[in-house]
Amino acid sequence: MLLNSQEIAVIILAAGRGIRAGSAGEPKQYHVVGGITVLERAITVFSKIQEIGRIVVVHHDDDKMTCEAALPHFKGQIILVTGGNTRQASTLNGLAALSGTPPQFVMIHDAARPFVDDNLVRRLIEQMKTGEAVIPAIPISDTLKRGTIGEFVQETVNRNDLFGAQTPQAFPFEAIFNAHQRAAQTVGVEFTDDASIAEWAGIPVRIIAGSQENTKITWKRDLELAEKILLSHTRFPDVRTGNGYDVHSFVPGDFITLCGVKIAYRAKLNGHSDSDVALHALTDALLATCGAGDIGTHFPPTDAKWSGAPSKIFVAHAVEIIRKNGGKIANVDVTLICEAPQIGPHRAAMLSAIQEMLGISIERISIKATTNEKLGFIGRGEGIAAIATTSVVFPGDLP
Ligand code: CTP
Ligand code: MG
Repeated sequence: MLLNSQEIAVIILAAGRGIRAGSAGEPKQYHVVGGITVLERAITVFSKIQEIGRIVVVHHDDDKMTCEAALPHFKGQIILVTGGNTRQASTLNGLAALSGTPPQFVMIHDAARPFVDDNLVRRLIEQMKTGEAVIPAIPISDTLKRGTIGEFVQETVNRNDLFGAQTPQAFPFEAIFNAHQRAAQTVGVEFTDDASIAEWAGIPVRIIAGSQENTKITWKRDLELAEKILLSHTRFPDVRTGNGYDVHSFVPGDFITLCGVKIAYRAKLNGHSDSDVALHALTDALLATCGAGDIGTHFPPTDAKWSGAPSKIFVAHAVEIIRKNGGKIANVDVTLICEAPQIGPHRAAMLSAIQEMLGISIERISIKATTNEKLGFIGRGEGIAAIATTSVVFPGDLP
């Protein structure tokens, strides 16, 4: 039997409330895990398989907007359908939505299984092409006891031919649609997967090997575990770069402060605080990685209390903002642009001052200096400019 692109449809069930996962805010399928929602991850594999023509997502009546927002990469490509009070009712709604132009086959998948992989789906499709109903399942590995918590064991159940059923489950469309319609009209019949409905209706269901990774997110712990697994193969780490620039002019005086180090000089720098032009540029660069404004936002130059203040307090404030956002400073690079004084003799003291302020190792700090080749105001010795760049790594992936 040959399939064309319109002959397989997929139904993704996402209308549950995720009560056991303790989804205080949003049901588990809308949680962002490893940078994308559980729902989007569950769909992605299917969307890349050519033979799959249509994808139906069944959502809760209250969640249409949430569902659309959870699928930013699938705008206009999926059919949204409202679910029912039970998984079974939700599936029937999904099947009914396809029945106007019925596909030859349908795969029904829980949004709560985001780790479904391409190999599993292709193996199911291969088997489905024979016209059979087919499900993935894995052998039970624990010894099984019948009983109740706190009571005595009633019996040990032989697990040799017992399997845990997974999704996606694949069916000839008309057969499963008929079975579902009949089950819906039969009082007292309530099933937790679609294979049970097929079995009830007398449709033979073949078991193929499932995937150990294809677990269902059921409990809160499963969400946390999923985040950990995905974090271990993060593809887009949240690394941010900030830059800062500052200039101060010379006025009469006898020392300047650069990178927190006091240097005897024929003039002093004019301006905000101790006028440490390098630390001002560095503070701006650090703040930029959190979108936290600039030095003037936090320490207005009009406020007399910062007059003469050591600029390391500004750096410390920016570091605290980064820390609160969970960031880790990967490196900083400061360039001083001046004709004089010479920076080289002070570099070691500057490095250790900045190391103390940032709490990072010395090889992650760079302090460089250049003249302005006697050009412009810096070339005429009227002031000093500084440029700072930093990279900060934040937890999680880029969305
Ligand atoms: N589901 C559905 N419609 C329902 C109930 C469940 O579409 N009325 C979907 C869920 O969104 C999930 C899948 O069926 O993708 C499997 O159900 P389950 O793991 O039980 O999810 P929830 O019902 O959301 O969770 P809970 O039972 O803990 O509330
Ligand atoms: Mg449920």
